[in-house]
Amino acid sequence: MALKHQKVVLVGDGAVGSSYAFAMMQQGIGEEFVIVDIIKKRTQGDALDLEDAQVFTHPKNIYSGDYSDCKDADMVVITAGAPQKPGESRLDLVGKNLKILSSIVPPVVKSGFKGIFVVAANPVDILTYGTQKLSGFPKNKVVGSGTSLDTTRFQVEVGKKLGINPQDVNAYIMGEHGDSEFADIDEASVGNRPLLDVAKEKGLSKDDLLKIEDDTRKKAYNIINLKGATFYGVATALMRISRAILRDENSVLPVGAYMNGEYGLHDLYIGTPAVVNASGLAKVEEVPLSDDEQKKMQASAKTLKETINKGME
Ligand code: NAD
Ligand code: LAC
Repeated sequence: MALKHQKVVLVGDGAVGSSYAFAMMQQGIGEEFVIVDIIKKRTQGDALDLEDAQVFTHPKNIYSGDYSDCKDADMVVITAGAPQKPGESRLDLVGKNLKILSSIVPPVVKSGFKGIFVVAANPVDILTYGTQKLSGFPKNKVVGSGTSLDTTRFQVEVGKKLGINPQDVNAYIMGEHGDSEFADIDEASVGNRPLLDVAKEKGLSKDDLLKIEDDTRKKAYNIINLKGATFYGVATALMRISRAILRDENSVLPVGAYMNGEYGLHDLYIGTPAVVNASGLAKVEEVPLSDDEQKKMQASAKTLKETINKGME
């Protein structure tokens, strides 16, 4: 059976968007890649620059386009929006980035787009919710990058401390992609053993793991202070989510998923592991959280709900 031709439209060709385009090119995911931005020259230049990469990577039809190109796309990935300046939180971006979002989603829908939205612009949980509201799409067809990047940050740091490949640290950062996120330390494992046991053998206590959780929360601020923005980490997280969708993988990934009673939460998108496939969010894999972690999930959801109520007034 011939493989289906797959098309992705990227909206937002800044640091995050162009790094994502490069990651998709290198991994050979999708055959057609369209770049849209209010700065047309940038998309034209990036398409010309990126097409040169295909000789040493994978063939791809990559070009600068507009919203009408969404009509037959499998995915629209939204990375358009202001990034944080040093000292700003992600939630501080809500006003300006919801405004940008409301200029993007209606023309995408108007094109006849029937695929999956993936949202990464910040505050991502709120913008994912906004994308669903503005589009009227089924909730499963709107996926947030959620805590995918934060989870890799935790895995990397724990991996360094334990001398273990971070890919084998089975832990999730959950909740808001932001200051109220937390790690599911009590349920996490390395191989098949509890993370807490493996850490103890290396002389690390739960408090040491909570310190890594805190460093994870602060990592974006550190990078922004050092180089002004973060983009390679999220670009590869977006590539991983895209692969799960386009290749119908049924992969369990920490993403921004719609809550319909899971964790006792309703009507918001928040970071949790979920099964991702060609239908978008196939199923939330609800983690059996400890009492303390359940409280953190509730507090994080409360922060998001308050922002939704303020931001969508
Ligand atoms: P950037 O300033 O480099 O790029 C933003 C791009 O959006 C620019 O090219 C700009 O022209 C474009 N844009 C602005 N308004 C637009 C509109 N109305 N229509 C189309 N395009 C428009 O910013 P960046 O560093 O690429 O960050 C982009 C977003 O991603 C920010 O909100 C940032 O906070 C977020 N981000 C999210 C994560 C995550 O884990 N989810 C990680 C890093 C950054
Ligand atoms: C991150 C962005 C800023 O790197 O959300 O976490």
